[in-house]
Amino acid sequence: MRLPGRLGPLRSTPLAARPPGRVRAGPAAGRRASARGRLGGTMAEEAKRLAACAAVDKHVQNNQVLGIGSGSTIVHAVHRLAERVKEENLTIVCIPTSFQARQLILQNGLTLSDLDRHPELDVAIDGADEVDSDLNLIKGGGGCLTQEKIVAGYAKCFIVIADYRKKSESLGERWKKGIPIEVIPMAYVPVTRALTKNFGGAAELRMAVSKAGPVVTDNGNFILDWKFDKVHEWSEVNTAIKMIPGVVETGLFIDMAEVVYFGMEDGSVSVREKQPR
Ligand code: 5RP
Repeated sequence: MRLPGRLGPLRSTPLAARPPGRVRAGPAAGRRASARGRLGGTMAEEAKRLAACAAVDKHVQNNQVLGIGSGSTIVHAVHRLAERVKEENLTIVCIPTSFQARQLILQNGLTLSDLDRHPELDVAIDGADEVDSDLNLIKGGGGCLTQEKIVAGYAKCFIVIADYRKKSESLGERWKKGIPIEVIPMAYVPVTRALTKNFGGAAELRMAVSKAGPVVTDNGNFILDWKFDKVHEWSEVNTAIKMIPGVVETGLFIDMAEVVYFGMEDGSVSVREKQPR
């Protein structure tokens, strides 16, 4: 099990020895990149696709149990996965992190399972809203943070895919919408007060767009977006927020990611790996 925070040695699927840095995307990815460019795909979308293909090509092997994240970047990973499953006749089982992920798995003809049947995963792949230089993440822009953290937490190796806009040195540099925090609905007011009293900043109830009222998560809860006003010691703050009664989970993924693939503006893929301690 991969515990969030700096709690324990958790081994992962080994990566081939390779220094972190930029890698060239494979030839097929390159061909698709230029074709997509000609068709007018946006640069960020292409960057997401390059990161997703690099991660799937590097980390997915036959007979694995895979965690499938949520958001727009993971869509590219699932497409590449489906392509590989078909071409290489792979046997892969997929565990979703949301309703969206479940639909993606089914629509792409992949094998859907759950944590009851597969309580340990080989690899989990997911997007992120921001990644700092220590591979700490803000996640939950799409509201799926709780299931995402559960699935990543039970994977031997957690891989993140993102475009260049998510790459930062310090959390909050890029992502300005705050840290998502899933809360039990009846507690959203006292949790909001406790957050701002204890840690400063401001917290807002996330409102739905095409529905009156708040966003309701796949777990039937609300989301607070906590806009912090200074850089914190994120591991400590994460633990402290989780102790507030009514908090279900935070979008801070501390010391969980093993490797992050960033699709860059120039068509390369930049790789950030966890540094050995
Ligand atoms: C959803 C998430 C997503 O992984 C995160 O918001 C990134 O999304 P995208 O790939 O669309 O940028 O945490 O809860």
